[in-house]
Amino acid sequence: MTTLITNIKELLQVRNNDIQKVSGKEMKILPTIKNAFIVIENEFISDFGTMNDIPDLKADKEINATGKIVLPTWCDSHTHIVFAGNREEEFVDRINGLSYEEIANKGGGILNSAKKLQNLPEEELFIQSAKRVEEVMTLGTGAVEIKSGYGLTLEAEIKMLRVIKKLASTYPIEIKATFLGAHAFPKEYKNDNESYVNLICDKMIPAVADEKLAEFIDVFCETGYFTVKQTKKILETGEKFGLTPKIHVNQFTSIGGVQIGVKYNALSIDHLEIMTSEDIKAIKNTNVMPVALPSCSYFLSIPYTPARKIIDSGLPLAIATDFNPGSTPSGNMNFVVAAASIKMKMTPEEAINAATLNGAYAMNLSNTHGSISMGKKASLIITKEIPSYNYIPYAFGSNLIDEVIINGKII
Ligand code: NIG
Ligand code: FE
Repeated sequence: MTTLITNIKELLQVRNNDIQKVSGKEMKILPTIKNAFIVIENEFISDFGTMNDIPDLKADKEINATGKIVLPTWCDSHTHIVFAGNREEEFVDRINGLSYEEIANKGGGILNSAKKLQNLPEEELFIQSAKRVEEVMTLGTGAVEIKSGYGLTLEAEIKMLRVIKKLASTYPIEIKATFLGAHAFPKEYKNDNESYVNLICDKMIPAVADEKLAEFIDVFCETGYFTVKQTKKILETGEKFGLTPKIHVNQFTSIGGVQIGVKYNALSIDHLEIMTSEDIKAIKNTNVMPVALPSCSYFLSIPYTPARKIIDSGLPLAIATDFNPGSTPSGNMNFVVAAASIKMKMTPEEAINAATLNGAYAMNLSNTHGSISMGKKASLIITKEIPSYNYIPYAFGSNLIDEVIINGKII
């Protein structure tokens, strides 16, 4: 099956295959082709260029994209899409003045979601989560990472990861799984945190690895959650079982989590709302991808990740949704791109690079996703007729997407 898209006003994020990520000043450059065509052969990009060089070929399907922009689908490298129910009652509590921490301390938060999830049959959890996956696909996401972490028992964590696996085999969107047993301490371990860390290391990690249910391991390394020492132990055990670290750090406090991420070669270190100069220095000259989650900052009214400080010190940055029931009940990457520009002062080029190429890197998907490159997956957004790509973050409340193509198929 050959699909030809013609008369594209501008084709964004056109790269050679060897570009894995962009850092510092490079992030300001978004390579494009104006008045372009692109050819899709089955699920892959097989050719692209300017309309002047369009090949003479018989396509099975032709799409005329006059006035429209085409770009790679969003790569959302940090989500918790598999969850049970919602937490809208806590949302109202926060409007009435309670903080995220205060809600968690009175039994809400992650433990509230865990209770709901533990009681929900696997089939029902799949149905609820599948709706969210379908929604993010229509919003232009073509690859997504999904974490466990609302199970907090061996059984419920495995249940979550099996649901993630089933989502991955049901939908064309690329899905990567992360084991986040270290998301919070269950109530019964409140006064014996070490026993829960042992349960993670001795039982959960081996079971996850045995069933090949995850590629990554995550820890919520934060004051009141997992300490640096506990994080170390969990990442070390994960490493022994072949799991690559991707960690939650510096959401509320800087306690040395960044340094631990670097030490254990984390693929990404995520959140980073609170960053000291030492934290920034620690990431320099490493392969770690910092990831900002601006819709979490928006929803919780906490500081935004200092993107300018990070990028201006020469580092790369990716942006992701953090889609979860507590801190970010939204999987809309279009909003994330807009918030990155509006609130974090990232230029449209930087925001689009962060949401595509660098997002793919943060999921180990650089070879197949994140750019318009020969042989990569044909996962594309075709916008409505818009004046320029600046319009994507500018018109932050509008739906600018005309079509989403995932693996060569219009969805
Ligand atoms: O990334 N910070 C830790 N975990 C999630 C929120 C979890 C929740 O509130 O349910 C996050 O923001
Ligand atoms: Fe998260």
